[in-house]
Order: sequence, then C-alpha cells, then structure tokens
Amino acid sequence: MSCVVQEPSVTHGLNVGTNAFVQGASSRANVTLGLIGPGRVGGALIGQLRRACADPHRRPPVGLFGIASRNVMRLADQDILVGECVETSPSDLDAFVAHLRKVATGPIVIADCTASDEIAGRYADWLSGGIHVVTPNKFAGSGPLDRWSAIQRAREAGGHHRYEATVGAGLPVINTLRDLLDTGDELIAIEGMLSGTIAWLLNRYDGTTPFSKLVKEAYYKGLTEPNPADDLSGMDVARKLVILAREAGIGISLDDVCVTPVVPMPTTNLNPKAYFAYMSNYDSEMQSRLQRARLSGRTLRYVASLSANGSASVRLEEMGADHPFSRTGLTDNVARFCTSRYDSNPLHVQGPGAGAEVTAAAVFADVLRVMRELSS
Ligand SMILES: NC(=O)c1ccc[n+]([C@@H]2O[C@H](COP(=O)([O-])OP(=O)(O)OC[C@H]3O[C@@H](n4cnc5c(N)ncnc54)[C@H](OP(=O)(O)O)[C@@H]3O)[C@@H](O)[C@H]2O)c1
Repeated sequence: MSCVVQEPSVTHGLNVGTNAFVQGASSRANVTLGLIGPGRVGGALIGQLRRACADPHRRPPVGLFGIASRNVMRLADQDILVGECVETSPSDLDAFVAHLRKVATGPIVIADCTASDEIAGRYADWLSGGIHVVTPNKFAGSGPLDRWSAIQRAREAGGHHRYEATVGAGLPVINTLRDLLDTGDELIAIEGMLSGTIAWLLNRYDGTTPFSKLVKEAYYKGLTEPNPADDLSGMDVARKLVILAREAGIGISLDDVCVTPVVPMPTTNLNPKAYFAYMSNYDSEMQSRLQRARLSGRTLRYVASLSANGSASVRLEEMGADHPFSRTGLTDNVARFCTSRYDSNPLHVQGPGAGAEVTAAAVFADVLRVMRELSS
C-alpha cells in the first residue's frame, strides 16, 4: 500500500492509512466523530445519530469514537453508535484527540457541545492540524478577535468549521446571511430577537406569575443556557450579535455591543438556585415594565440591532402590535436582514429558537455539510 500525504498531516495521514489498511472495507464509518459535552444538546445529538444509523436509507458514514465531559471521557475502538464497548477514564482532551487520530479511517470531526471558552481556545490548533469542528458553542465566534482571526486562518488552510447552531438554534440564520453576502448582496442592518429563552419568558409573562418563577421554570424545561444568568444579562444575545457581525465582515467584539440587560449580571457566580433568589429582587421592576407597555397597547421584546457601520445594541423594547416582532410566540427567534436587495421589505428568518433537539439537529446538519464539502 502507498499513500501521499501533505507534510503537516504526516502523522495523521499515516494513522489514517494504517487504520484504513487494517480495518479495510469492513469499516462502516468514514468520518470519525468525537463529541465533547454530552449534555442536553450533545445527548440529543447522540440520539439523532443513533436513529440515523439504525435507518439503512439514511445511515450517514459517521462513527462516534469518543465522548468527553468535564470530568470523564469514554473512548472506543468501535463505533459507540452501534456498540457498547467503551473505556472510561478521567477527561484529558489531548488523549481524547490522540485517540480519535489513532482510530480514524478518514476525516475527524469534533462536535463541541459545551459552552466552554477553554474548548473554543483549542479550535485553531485542531483546525490547523486537520481536525474539523462543528459547534453550537458561541465562545469562539464571539471571543477575542485575535483568537477568531487565528481560527479564520486555520479555516483558510483547509479546516472546516461550522457553527450554524450558535445563532437561532436550528434556524438557518448564519447560512442565510452567508448566502446573501456570497451572492453580492450588501448588509445595511440586522434586527433580531435572538434569544429563544427570553422570547419564551416574555410571551409567558402576563404579570400573574413572578418573572423569577418563570425563569426557574424555563431552566428546568432546558430552555436556558447552562448558566441562566447568561440569558438574562443579555450576554448570550450580545454574543450572537457579534457572531453575525463578524460573519458579515464587521470585526466587532463583545465590548462594542451596548447591552442593556433584562436583569443585571450578579457580581458573583451564583448556582441556579441562588440565581433564582437573586432574580426575585427584580420581580416588581419587571411588573412595572409590563404595565407601562400594556398601557400603550405594546408588547415587551428583547431586541438586538446591528448596523453596517458596526454600531450594535441589545435591549428590552416596547413594540407596537403591528410590529412583526410582536406577532411571535413561544420560543420564536427572528433575524430580520435589511440589505441592498431586501431594503424596503426586509428578509425574515423566523421559528423556534431554543431546545436541545432543534439545536442538535443543526449540529448534525453541520456534520453532514462538512462531509459533503470534504467529498466534493
Ligand atoms: N439548550 C439549547 O436550547 C441551546 C440552544 C442553542 C445553543 N445551545 C448551546 O449548546 C451548548 C450546549 O448547551 P446545553 O444546553 O447542552 O448545555 P448542558 O446541558 O449544560 O451541557 C453542557 C455539556 O458540556 C460539558 N462541558 C462543559 N464544560 C466542559 C469542558 N471544559 N470540557 C468537557 N466538557 C465540558 C458538560 O459536562 P459536565 O456535565 O461534566 O459539566 C455537559 O456535558 C452551549 O454552548 C449552548 O449555548 C444550547
């Protein structure tokens, strides 16, 4: 057997070649997948992959060979989706990646389903080392600009990085923006409701139940961020706005977004129970805001705005009944693109913007997209 590999990929190429030779055509999986963060989204992704693999008509050539959470990881020489033979050990991401390289018979994709800045800090190295990354984690796209630039450079060198689920959960927000720009449209502004959690809270909030109690309910329904303070402080929405801005070539950072929180971020890190108690201090203020809006026949909406000149803001607004954002329900997200083509009548992408299943499906679709890109 002989093979030609590019120099930076020599070690990986040899592993791929050797494993391919040893396992040969008997290996079903072409893409070797490693999952970091088997929480709500990661767990739903495993379920969706298992169901797809059990269906002979749509079985994707993907095998899952490692799952890592904060403290433990499970590594397998066989596809975890079809077998149970796994070894459990303390988490060590270097060993995790080394294992994926060892078992790989084709491209390696890591699905980062955490909300970890530390994991996002590894993307550039992974991508430049030939490992592709799909993720709903917003920390790379909204983190330090120099780190984001390093990720862009690694992508230009061939690493595939897809992150549709970082904005709008399962909605095609980033791909729509990409398509507009790639076909020569020019962005004028984006206005959006980009938090499914806050949309759900404001749709449910009629003043009869304290706002903090609804936040607690949203948390136990799995609708909030792992840390619910990220939602209510507006930081999660601000991160999404930064991701959209950078996608449009506007190099802003979180500090450039003028964020007015629904409820200010607590000064210390609180566990969820303590956070709900902290939130109850703001119940009467929320009640007043609701009453004020209702007196003028308006609804409360949490709105993110971005202009092509880079000005960006996130704030609670009162919207008239005829505004499209007022005519939304449940966890609806809306991204409203005003461009040269869609000027007087902006383009709306709207639909459910939270939930583990829809978010996992967007991550799954990104895995499939990377596979298509690699095979084209
Ligand atoms: N849930 C949604 O509706 C939704 C919608 C859109 C986007 N997202 C995004 O999807 C991601 C996951 O959200 P989720 O709701 O699934 O959160 P989650 O249920 O809290 O799960 C997070 C997972 O990440 C793991 N993790 C955290 N830090 C880690 C680290 N340093 N190393 C390895 N594993 C680590 C956790 O492991 P431990 O259990 O060991 O801590 C857990 O398995 C987040 O980035 C979130 O913003 C979620």
